[in-house]
Order: sequence, then structure tokens, then C-alpha cells
Amino acid sequence: MNKGELLYTGKAKSVYATDDADRVVILYRNDTSAFDGKKVEQLDRKGMVNNKFNAFIMDTLAAAGIPTHHEKLLSDTESLVKRLQMIPVECVVRNFAAGSLVRRLGVEEGIALNPPTFELFLKNDALGDPMINDAHAISFGWATAEQLAEMKALTLKINDILKDLFLKGDMLLVDFKLEFGLFHGKIVLGDEFSPDGCRLWDRETRKKLDKDRFRQGLGGVVEAYEEVAARLGVTLD
Ligand code: TMP
Ligand code: ASP
Repeated sequence: MNKGELLYTGKAKSVYATDDADRVVILYRNDTSAFDGKKVEQLDRKGMVNNKFNAFIMDTLAAAGIPTHHEKLLSDTESLVKRLQMIPVECVVRNFAAGSLVRRLGVEEGIALNPPTFELFLKNDALGDPMINDAHAISFGWATAEQLAEMKALTLKINDILKDLFLKGDMLLVDFKLEFGLFHGKIVLGDEFSPDGCRLWDRETRKKLDKDRFRQGLGGVVEAYEEVAARLGVTLD
């Protein structure tokens, strides 16, 4: 598989064409960004850790029947994936209150949410990824009602699978964000699943093991990601 021209540079990943029009290579960089690109740093090993962690999660989801774009690891920092036509809507599920929910509603961090909440955000850094609802997505043509229903059902199913997986490693899956796209008209999970796009707390101490360590300047960011990987038995080296 030949890596061709650079198609797109995101905040933490770059996307390259291949000789197959239906496949692209994703390069995971060490760039770590938060607050919609306002805080950016290079963190040693982060690209490698997220690439391998994501491959493990995507393989786990595929084995449970979730359609994903992931095909295979190509190197420490590169993966081959299906080329999707991305839907610019982010799906967020929360099992515990944290982050923007706490700020928006003034509730206490850590409250358990039963059932889990489901929210949509528009993928638009310039606007700070504003929260939207189904009607906005449909009226502006970002997704159809059917696509939104499928994305919601898949996101909640993924929550059930991953909540149990992380619990086995004594971690609480607090919340996470997913992005979907279309592959020949079919909804497929794209982007990545890593501690960059979710919140994970130690079950007992509630120590933060995710990108909140970076957002809040707590230090030990990649060390925490490596601990998450170790607890799930993900091989990094
Ligand atoms: P929030 O609390 O900032 O709304 O984020 C909820 C979860 O989704 C959290 O784990 C971070 C993740 N997320 C992203 O990774 N990128 C985004 O653009 C958004 C809106 C959320
Ligand atoms: N909105 C997310 C954050 O604040 C993602 C990002 O902006 O990179 O971390």
C-alpha cells in the first residue's frame, strides 16, 4: 500500500491518499490539542499510543458487529482505513456528568447519568463545536433523520460494549465522542477512539486517565494513556 499525497491535516492526525480510491492512511501525530485548537503541545509517544490503542478498540468493536473504517495497523503511527465521506456531526454519550455538561447545566461533576445522555455537536472549531439537535442536522443537510437514528443506535451500542471493557480494567467510561461517515452509502464508525476523545476515571480513586490531564495541566498525560492501555492488555511496544 503506497502512501500518496497529503489529503487533510487535522489537529492530531494527517490523512494520506493511497493507490486504492477507497482507502486512506491515517498518521497519528504527537500534536495534542484542546479547547478547539487553542492549546497545542507535542507529547512524546502520543501518536504511537493512540494509533495502537485505537486499533485495539476498533478491532474489539468490529468483533462485536460494529461497522468501522479500521483495516489494519501499518506502522507505529499509521493505520490503513476505509475512505469515508465524513458526517460533520459529533456524537457524545455521557455515563457521568463532566466537562461541558457540568459547565452548561451547573451540575456536580461525577453524578451518574441513568440512562446515559446522548448529544450532538457540530464539528466546527471556529464556532467551538456548538451543540446542535436533530432538526438542525436535518434542516442544514448535515445528516438525514435515518442516518442520525443509526448513529445514535450505534453510539449507544458502542457505549454498552466499551463501558464493560473499561470496567474490567477498573476504569469508568465517563463520556466519549464518536464521528461517523458514509462508505458507499453505509454508516461506518470513523475517526478514532482513544483517551484523546473520551474521559476515563479510575473506578476507586476517580483519578483522571484521559485528555483532561492535558486540558487541566495535571501532567503525566501520555503516562496515563499508557496506563489505560496496560490495564486493557494492549501491547504498545
Ligand atoms: P465535552 O464535555 O467537552 O462536551 O466533551 C464530551 C466528551 O467528548 C469528552 O470525552 C471529550 C469528547 N469531545 C471531543 O473529543 N471532541 C469534541 O469536539 C467534543 C465536542 C467532545
Ligand atoms: N473540543 C475538544 C477539546 O476541547 C477537542 C478539540 O478541540 O480538539 O479537547
